[in-house]
Amino acid sequence: MVERRLPVMPERTPVPLFDLVLVGATGDLALRKLFPALARRAAEGVLPDGSRITGVVRSGDSPEALKEHLGTKLREHGVADEDVRRLLPIVEFVKADIADAASLSGLAERLDDPNRVRAFYLATPPDRFIPASRALKSAGLLEGGTRLVLEKPLGQDLASARAINEAVAAVLPESQTYRIDHYLGKETVQNLLVLRFANTLFERSWSERDIDHVQITVAETVGLEARAGYYDKIGALRDMVQNHVLQLLCLFAIEPPNTLTADAIRDEKVRVLRALKPISGLDVLQKTVRGQYIRGSLDGSPVPGYAEELGRESGTETFVSLRCELETWRWAGVPIFLRTGKRMGSRYSEIVVTFRKLPHLIFPGQAGAAVEANRLVIRLQPNDGLQLQMMMKVPGSGRLKLVPRVLDLRYDTAFDERTPDAYERLLTDVIRGDQTLFMRRDEVETAWSFIDPIVEGWKEHYATPHRYVAGTSGPAQAVALIEREGRSWSDPELRV
Ligand code: BG6
Repeated sequence: MVERRLPVMPERTPVPLFDLVLVGATGDLALRKLFPALARRAAEGVLPDGSRITGVVRSGDSPEALKEHLGTKLREHGVADEDVRRLLPIVEFVKADIADAASLSGLAERLDDPNRVRAFYLATPPDRFIPASRALKSAGLLEGGTRLVLEKPLGQDLASARAINEAVAAVLPESQTYRIDHYLGKETVQNLLVLRFANTLFERSWSERDIDHVQITVAETVGLEARAGYYDKIGALRDMVQNHVLQLLCLFAIEPPNTLTADAIRDEKVRVLRALKPISGLDVLQKTVRGQYIRGSLDGSPVPGYAEELGRESGTETFVSLRCELETWRWAGVPIFLRTGKRMGSRYSEIVVTFRKLPHLIFPGQAGAAVEANRLVIRLQPNDGLQLQMMMKVPGSGRLKLVPRVLDLRYDTAFDERTPDAYERLLTDVIRGDQTLFMRRDEVETAWSFIDPIVEGWKEHYATPHRYVAGTSGPAQAVALIEREGRSWSDPELRV
């Protein structure tokens, strides 16, 4: 389906002339997300004339055939024909092995203009990051403020993430290193800071004093897709929680930064990660739930189980739920429930904040019994926006009746502009040199320090995944995780 063209907000600062090199240019991420994002930016006139995009491939078809393939893929992914035609002239494909300095001479000749911002985007598996950064350095390609973009996953545990970070730091300063977590590019995620720090109403009640508990859910309907090689080694905890879900938690829970600079915000995010109470040893059995989907149905159509898709049995989790706590004055005693899974009943990501119950109710009988705690739903996707559930009096005279109703603020009705895709924002931020929405080295490593003991605890205590039927909201044990505390998951389909 070709997307509807809506205007976007004018750019804050112009994007400078650039040379962007995409490594892994024929991979799924590049074809599904990066090139379409660049096509939209080009169509909106955001990319300055003369800018160039170079796709690096190791082997395969001729550059002309690759360009044709790119055109076909862009159209398949909904990019309008005129936008494809606008993007293709600025794209060239070059054959090179990014991990072999000797094969980079052609690329070095092409990237000879010192007046452009130069960025390399490694949309490759993480085992290429170390050899690629070394080869780029020895080919002299990292000079003059060159930026290096690293796509997630950044390693698979703390040790491998550290090794990558150290190798990169040996050839490039942190200020030129951009670690992508595309959730940070999502509009509603950025709006979390505005919600918190530009609204008196919320900021004053954003603490254990008024908040009972918090839930963060990232539910997906997709299954394994064509990623067996990667996913089965990683699982939901490391694929989603280590990065996206913990980043959401950081922005939800941070203390006000004293300025809006990239480092001021990232300093505060690291503090949240450091405050996470470790989950390890036997605790993993109490505070975490692993799940794996079995055959079920989605939208009325049957879908296979994970093991069937994979072609063999596996102990990898496709669903995970955690009960976390932050050891700070602000958040002491507030449980934070996280969950994410594949092949769940519907695709949505949201943060649900349940406020505390009132200390005393003046409404008698049924009216009082009907009072529910206020709940704020921060919806990240789809239908981004905010919903605040409040109690209302049912109109009319006679017996007082109270019901919950929702104040509903949706992005698509509040604004006429198109919401840009996360990668559109992040790609232009790299060129502009704005690191705010990228993960700093210490953030990534601190997140791994929280995740590693959970993985070890699972191994130590043989915590195999519980089965859940595809198309549902996960295993029953995840329901028990929250319900044994007298709370329950907030299910979008059951809301008023
Ligand atoms: C990626 C994960 O980082 O995020 C995928 O590797 C996941 O497994 C994807 O499907 C989800 O992103 P989005 O933007 O579709 O929610």
